[in-house]
Amino acid sequence: MKQSAYQGLHYVKPSPKKSVAHIYKGKEGLPQVRHVVAVASGKGGVGKSTVAVNLAVALAQQGLKVGLMDADVYGPSIPKMTGTEQAQPLVEVVAGIEKIIPVERYGVKWMSIGYFSAAEKPLIWRGPMATNALRQLLNQVEWGALDVLLIDLPPGTSDIHVSITQEVKLSGAVVVSTPQAVALADVEKGVNMFLNDKVNVPVLGLVENMAWFTPEELPDNKYYIFGKDGVARLAEKLHLPLLAQLPIVQGICESGDGGTPIALQENAAGSAFLALAAKIAGLLL
Ligand SMILES: Nc1ncnc2c1ncn2[C@@H]1O[C@H](COP(=O)(O)OP(=O)(O)OP(=O)(O)O)[C@@H](O)[C@H]1O
Ligand SMILES: [Mg+2]
Repeated sequence: MKQSAYQGLHYVKPSPKKSVAHIYKGKEGLPQVRHVVAVASGKGGVGKSTVAVNLAVALAQQGLKVGLMDADVYGPSIPKMTGTEQAQPLVEVVAGIEKIIPVERYGVKWMSIGYFSAAEKPLIWRGPMATNALRQLLNQVEWGALDVLLIDLPPGTSDIHVSITQEVKLSGAVVVSTPQAVALADVEKGVNMFLNDKVNVPVLGLVENMAWFTPEELPDNKYYIFGKDGVARLAEKLHLPLLAQLPIVQGICESGDGGTPIALQENAAGSAFLALAAKIAGLLL
């Protein structure tokens, strides 16, 4: 039996006596997913969601089974960036348990809290409510067999991050930053959140986004608007791989706004995401 997930996904008030922890299967909860990889950053607005969406599409183009979970419950971007804002995920009841079916487009399975809320209405949630909604999504989505499930994290290091690292076993994290000093200052915090003893998630590497700008009419010129090689130097200092340097490209922004990820296009930006995907697949599989 199928029904709209609007009825299926509802906030369950946490009871102080009864922990929700027992409901969820914790780190064993996604047995059909080979690798869960978080896409994170220190600062906001550096291009995490853009990288996550294009990486997902590029991994799928390489023949992998891919899903992407939007963990930004306060500002979900995935429905817009994939042109799936109108999608209404279905709920299938499997052995008495409601399972949410992810939205499929561009060969990727997408899930976001944005599918369950009106775009113009802000989600005003206290921390525990947001964390619970996310847990419910993580555990109730019927991902099926996946090679890679990407998790697009909100910026920074919040209780959402802690909750995700407790809820699923992450194979690794990709940390995105722009090269300017204010963004770099928080990258180490983001990296240390994964590497610390309690969390112990390997950082697969750093991605330098908005590394330079090349105007179409001057294809040989590179303008380092946010500074040159800031993330590259930090990667060296932290002994982490630099996975990609992605330029500022008008088409990246436009295709994100238009819901058609640039990784679908055969151009320099599309190829850059394919190369990033190949590197990450090489590290994981
Ligand atoms: N390389 C790029 N070239 C041009 N525009 C870009 C590039 N990367 C990201 N953008 C644009 O910058 C904006 C912010 O990107 P995005 O939403 O991916 O950042 P974010 O880190 O996920 O933000 P948040 O912290 O709010 O989740 C978007 O409009 C996106 O299209
Ligand atoms: Mg984002």
